[in-house]
Amino acid sequence: MKAFNDLADFSNEEIRALVELAGRLDTHPEPDALKGKVLSLLFLSPSLRTLASFQAAMTRLGGGSFVISPDMSIHGLETRPGIVMDGAAAEHIREAVPVIASYGDAIGIRAFAERKNIETDMAETEFNSLTGLVDTPCINMESAMNHPCQNLADWKTLDDLGVPANGGKFVLSWAYHPLALPLAVPASTLYMAAKRGMDVTVLRPEGFELPDPLMQKATAAADAAGGSITETDQRSEAMEGAHIIYAKSWSSTRHYGDKIGDKKLREQHLDWCVDEPWFDVAQEDCRFMHCLPVRRGVVVADDILDGPRSVVIQEARNRMLAQMAVLHQMLGG
Ligand code: CP
Repeated sequence: MKAFNDLADFSNEEIRALVELAGRLDTHPEPDALKGKVLSLLFLSPSLRTLASFQAAMTRLGGGSFVISPDMSIHGLETRPGIVMDGAAAEHIREAVPVIASYGDAIGIRAFAERKNIETDMAETEFNSLTGLVDTPCINMESAMNHPCQNLADWKTLDDLGVPANGGKFVLSWAYHPLALPLAVPASTLYMAAKRGMDVTVLRPEGFELPDPLMQKATAAADAAGGSITETDQRSEAMEGAHIIYAKSWSSTRHYGDKIGDKKLREQHLDWCVDEPWFDVAQEDCRFMHCLPVRRGVVVADDILDGPRSVVIQEARNRMLAQMAVLHQMLGG
């Protein structure tokens, strides 16, 4: 495997093999599989799970890793192209990325969306400009529109829970959050559930529709896998018979890049906080998923997070196992 940037680059059989390998590495550890291998980790955006789980994954497989982020750089990192560097930053990303990559056998890169222009973000302009600087095998640790490591872990979590691939109902729901968050998780989670063959409903208020190209990509995946995609702003219609609700806040696509317009619209939906009444018409054992971090009492009620419906910790642990499988295929053998 030369790159792990998008679930769409892999067949369902390849994904199922990765999920199976993730499970096997959990029950049958391989502490020498990546002995002597090094993973370079570049974080241009904040993290807890991705930062910790990649380091834990490499250690469990016998390899090592190191982390670079602008916060810890003593030089100050410039990311803008074509800039005259007469300010505080003394190191440009164009040198930093190849240098970091040269110390490792693979590189993981996290670079969130700029959230100024939706076309630029959908084209993955920044992430592609970074990966284009190196030949080293690359892992997307979250870019403007993708979070494949989260998607692989969530696929495994759905399998672990016994949620049916075909006939399983997956609700991807917008939730209130005070900030305009990126589209990477909702966009790539929609695609993951569609590719798994589930009946996916996107539940969101007006103005928070996911972009057409992303809906079309997911619809094609659902068609190929025997699933379906629908979209609504009606909570009870979406939740009827649901096996899973996957909550996430995201930016208004109507006001993309316009913080004031986005804020005015989202503040009309303060009540989009998942609590027990949301589950009234769902399957009795409907589970709550979220990639974390999550704001308690804003996105979801404490009762749900602390109760039996929540599988958020299982999802987070599966991040480490899923990434072990990716690293094993990329660097092992
Ligand atoms: N879910 C996730 O990617 O978490 P972090 O942002 O903490 O890495």
